Amino acid sequence: MRAVLARQAGFSLRRRLVWQFLALSLLLVVALFFAVRFAAERASRASQDAILGAAVISVGDGIRALDDGLALDLPYATFSMLGAMGDERIFYSLMIGTRLVTGYDALPQPQTTPDDLSPVFYSNEYKDSRLRLAAITRRVLLDDKVQEVVVTLGQTRYGQAAIARDTARSAVWIGLGFLILAVPLALWAIRAVIRPVDRLAGAVARRGPHDLRAVRHPTPRELVPLVGALNDFIARLRGALKLAETFIFEAAHRIRTPLSLVRTEAEIALAETSDEATRARLRRMLRAIGESSRSATQILDHAMVLYRSDQFSAAEIDFAALARSVLRSVQPIAEMRDIELRDTGLEHPCQIPADERMIEVALRNILDNALKYSHSDGRITVTLQTQAGMAELSVKDEGKGLPDGDTDLTARFQRGSNVGDVVGSGLGLTIVSEVAAAHGGKFVLEPGKEKGTCATLFLPQS
Ligand SMILES: Nc1ncnc2c1ncn2[C@@H]1O[C@H](COP(=O)(O)OP(=O)(O)O)[C@@H](O)[C@H]1O
Ligand SMILES: [Mg+2]
Repeated sequence: MRAVLARQAGFSLRRRLVWQFLALSLLLVVALFFAVRFAAERASRASQDAILGAAVISVGDGIRALDDGLALDLPYATFSMLGAMGDERIFYSLMIGTRLVTGYDALPQPQTTPDDLSPVFYSNEYKDSRLRLAAITRRVLLDDKVQEVVVTLGQTRYGQAAIARDTARSAVWIGLGFLILAVPLALWAIRAVIRPVDRLAGAVARRGPHDLRAVRHPTPRELVPLVGALNDFIARLRGALKLAETFIFEAAHRIRTPLSLVRTEAEIALAETSDEATRARLRRMLRAIGESSRSATQILDHAMVLYRSDQFSAAEIDFAALARSVLRSVQPIAEMRDIELRDTGLEHPCQIPADERMIEVALRNILDNALKYSHSDGRITVTLQTQAGMAELSVKDEGKGLPDGDTDLTARFQRGSNVGDVVGSGLGLTIVSEVAAAHGGKFVLEPGKEKGTCATLFLPQS
């Protein structure tokens, strides 16, 4: 049953949760990489801009106006500070208007003219490198005029990019570390989430076959709709079973009673009539009534057995006493056909856990077959013995024997080719084998040793 359920289940909730957790975590690690790189870049750019700004101011401070032009003292200490983060390239230029005074030619100039207090920062391409630049304006007296000198200082930022990349990489390793630590935690959490479902399933599975009470197992709020649906279902099942039970018992009563009344009336009419034509008609009528009464009984017995199969509560019963009473009840039929009924082993009690009604119906069907398929003056032997924890009741007849071929005679409505004009519905052995299966036993029908048939019902003892 479990295997079948497992095959029907489409997916594992646990596996799905694990995969979702892993995919989301990996996504978070990638996001962490980019976020950390962005933040590290911004932080180191801000600090490097401060150094670059100080450097451009100190370059500006190194400009002196001489009588015959300008002099520039380059502050090499400042430049070495700029290269401190790695091997950076440094460029500078001094421009008056569009004229280059000294430094690198065509160094990108700021969009807005900077004032002489705070430098302007910008980024641009120069000589195949990405540069971070700072510019400041200095006013100098040159040729008796105050002139504005724009001092520009640029540097590559290889070191900064490398640091940002390293920081982001470390963040990824840390993220992956957390991920590995989180996997067992996630598994534990998933198990904790699924445990109430397992518990609920266990509580429902542990119930006995009669337990059709509503499920009151404490469940988390999320499972309340499931439990509600389950309880609705149980209530409907209870209703349907009640209906089936009422139907079986009412039908048994309301069909059998009028049928036996009709039969009695027909028998009386047959006894009172001397007209041969009417008598023949009445005989046909009696036969038809007998047949329908027999099939009604078997159909209802079968319904009863099916209904009880997963419902009955096994009580200790005396198999021998039950067999004796069924034998007594068929004795008149046997006498009518001059068949001798013998029994051995029925005098000692034989306790088995069983449903008395079901076993009685099974025994009646086995004996009914033995009588039906026996010749007059024959003999039927009923033997009860116990062996290996099983009670075995065998019914041997000396009748016409089993048909050739391997038809499953216990199938519903299946009759053998040996039946001739013997009436029957083909439900008898179905009922017997279902009763045997419901009790954990088995039913075997085999040819008799010399002639006839031997039917054996095996039922486990307590
Ligand atoms: N004691 C028996 N002797 C010979 N054949 C039997 C015997 N019991 C059962 N069978 C065969 O098994 C078939 C199925 O039996 P059953 O289910 O009781 O149906 P039914 O008795 O109504 O025909 C019978 O039709 C018959 O062919
Ligand atoms: Mg039968």
